[in-house]
Amino acid sequence: MDGSVPQASTWLAAAQRVVIFTGAGVSAESGVPTFRGPGGLWKTFRPEQLATPEAFARDPRLVWEWYGWRRGLLAACRPNLAHVAIARWLLVREGVTLVTQNVDDLHERGAAEAALGLAREGRLPSGIVGGAGDEDEARLLEVRAAADRVAPIRLHGSIFHVRCTRCGIRVPHQGRIDASSEATLPRCASCGGLLRPDVVWFGEALPQGALGAAFGAAAAAEVCLVVGTAGAVHPAAALVDETRGAGGRVIVVDPGETAYDDVADVRLWGTAGEVVPGLLRGA
Ligand code: OAD
Repeated sequence: MDGSVPQASTWLAAAQRVVIFTGAGVSAESGVPTFRGPGGLWKTFRPEQLATPEAFARDPRLVWEWYGWRRGLLAACRPNLAHVAIARWLLVREGVTLVTQNVDDLHERGAAEAALGLAREGRLPSGIVGGAGDEDEARLLEVRAAADRVAPIRLHGSIFHVRCTRCGIRVPHQGRIDASSEATLPRCASCGGLLRPDVVWFGEALPQGALGAAFGAAAAAEVCLVVGTAGAVHPAAALVDETRGAGGRVIVVDPGETAYDDVADVRLWGTAGEVVPGLLRGA
């Protein structure tokens, strides 16, 4: 059913446990393209050429070129009001788990912004850092620790991490990708194997630890707040069924149609940046 922000806020405020489940739409107002809507990546590019293990085995240079381009796009983007509001809520409330399908780092960057804002207001839960000499440094460490504490569970990996196709090691990787030839592609520092983006491609299993943690949190949640996902890609999309199956409520924020429209207890038709800050302020 369609619903009101105050009703949804009341449920969120009363819940002991909440899961927030985000998709590409939460980053749309930051300038990150979604996958399926107008202007979506899968309207211009073919996933089977760019986002499968077979595509990478066939033409790693082409795949890296595309991921390098997307990394460049992201570097120019900033977290939007929804990322910051979600992070702020996570920082000041217990019992909230953030689960994302996004491979960007905007939830993390939003968390750093939110933590800094709370620190300036003197509202950052303290006790994280003790005894550091320099006050600015102590605050910086505290902000960082707080932002780390509210990092999302990632169901589809991270575009800023790589994995070695030979030894399997996973490491952060922010540098520029030189995809001018196969010889210039990034290589593993320990074994020299070819590195690949540490994201989940079509036909691949989701990381078991993340999947278990996310689905466990959803099953225990009284409310699942869904923001900016069409709900078209499984198994991630089934997260919402865990909350519903255990008798919890579902709130959906999205300006377009989603797979959850018939099952949402409250359906808020609007963008993440327009709806989420007010929704969580009231919660
Ligand atoms: P989609 O592109 O399928 O859906 C994006 C959703 O965001 C749609 O429902 C839009 O209506 C909504 N949307 C657009 N602008 C919005 C805004 N400003 N605020 C809120 N919502 C907005 O993206 P996902 O559901 O995230 O997987 O796609 C799921 C997975 O499919 C992705 O993680 C990716 C993709 O293939 C992999 O790469 C494995």
